[in-house]
Amino acid sequence: MRILVIGGGGREHAIVWALKKSEKVKELYCAPGNAGIAQLAECVPIPVSRFGDLIQFAVDHAIDLVVVGPDDPLAAGIVDAFEARGIPIFGPRQNAAEIEGSKIFMKELLRKYNIPTAKYETFTDYASASAYLAEQSAPIVIKADGLAAGKGVTVARTMEEAKQALEDMMVNKVFGESGSQVVIEECLEGQEMSILAFVDGEIVRPMVPAQDHKPVYDGDKGPNTGGMGTYTPLPHIPQAIVDEAIEKIVIPTAKAMVSEGRPFRGFLFAGLMITKNGPTTIEFNARMGDPETQVVLPRLKTDLVDIILAAMNGRLDQLEIEWSDEAAVCVILASEGYPASYPKGRVITGLDEAAAQEGIQIFHAGTSLDGDNFVTSGGRVLGVVGLGTDTAQARERAYKAAATIKFDGVHYRSDIGVKALQGLSM
Ligand code: AMP
Ligand code: GLY
Repeated sequence: MRILVIGGGGREHAIVWALKKSEKVKELYCAPGNAGIAQLAECVPIPVSRFGDLIQFAVDHAIDLVVVGPDDPLAAGIVDAFEARGIPIFGPRQNAAEIEGSKIFMKELLRKYNIPTAKYETFTDYASASAYLAEQSAPIVIKADGLAAGKGVTVARTMEEAKQALEDMMVNKVFGESGSQVVIEECLEGQEMSILAFVDGEIVRPMVPAQDHKPVYDGDKGPNTGGMGTYTPLPHIPQAIVDEAIEKIVIPTAKAMVSEGRPFRGFLFAGLMITKNGPTTIEFNARMGDPETQVVLPRLKTDLVDIILAAMNGRLDQLEIEWSDEAAVCVILASEGYPASYPKGRVITGLDEAAAQEGIQIFHAGTSLDGDNFVTSGGRVLGVVGLGTDTAQARERAYKAAATIKFDGVHYRSDIGVKALQGLSM
């Protein structure tokens, strides 16, 4: 098969890496890709927003299957555009991708179908939003309705912080149109868990659960990022809680989308909080998580191409999907200043030495080539994944490799996976 992957981050590197292992794959392309992906696939310099050019490329290269990584093109209807030209593409159509593209749509869907989620109100004008906020108490969560690269959420610990976040979104428009509507919701306390699933309509095949670390600094301090590290499995979270989340949240949501005439086909991502009352929904994403993918796919033993084809041919429920018992820990190496503005073009050294260490897989997120050198080109630069027999070993390997890689201003959290070792504190 000739496969085109859309995107160019760490998630897409992991997807390309998993697809590359399939004997069914003859040619692998990635648009636009990155310097790490270029070692496995032919990178095509077409931005993910240029559907016409991507379709032309797919036609010219007789592409048999397109796999979409990021949220923006899904929300903009890339699947509909390829389908209209008869090109097989795996991902939700625009009307299903709205589960991520609009937080208000997602919250109303969950409310309508009685699926657990934080209590909330939505607002389209600043005056009523700030009047409502004045009657609430901290902690409280303020969210931009639309996509904001994972940064449109403020978990405010004080009312001052909440007021500032609301003003930034609705008055100062720091997220542009994404913040013209906002959700103000109750702050959930507990441990977070990400459940990704292969979905075709009502058929849900969950992947192994993972935990992300959104805040930039150790101990969950500082502003939210796209994700500073992940790990799987979650030895401190009982399987019964994972099963409950799948039965009460993920499957009912897939069914609700079918009932709404928006069947979801693709990778569905449930971001959950395990509260003292059980698992509750924080968000849904219409794609794989980044950096969840970087730890989940290394544990997938079944051919990813077979799973995607089964989902596209109505056979997803019949396929046996196998996972390894290994533990995986991903540490994100970020650019100086991230998640605020950051420099680009800093030379990265030590990649080969790190990659040669036992149980290490490195996924590039924001890298490019400058002559023979790998250089930084994004906020999240690299995902260093350690694999081992348990979380402790996977962690130790990931951090040893991370310390081998250098670039000016690099920073990363030192506590990825620590919650698993400490046990469940809720
Ligand atoms: P989202 O973009 O909706 O996933 O939010 C980003 C992050 O903000 C989540 O991963 C959580 O860490 C945090 N968050 C969002 N909503 C809530 C909530 N209602 N209570 C507590 N934390 C939240
Ligand atoms: N890591 C969270 C996300 O991909 O949204």
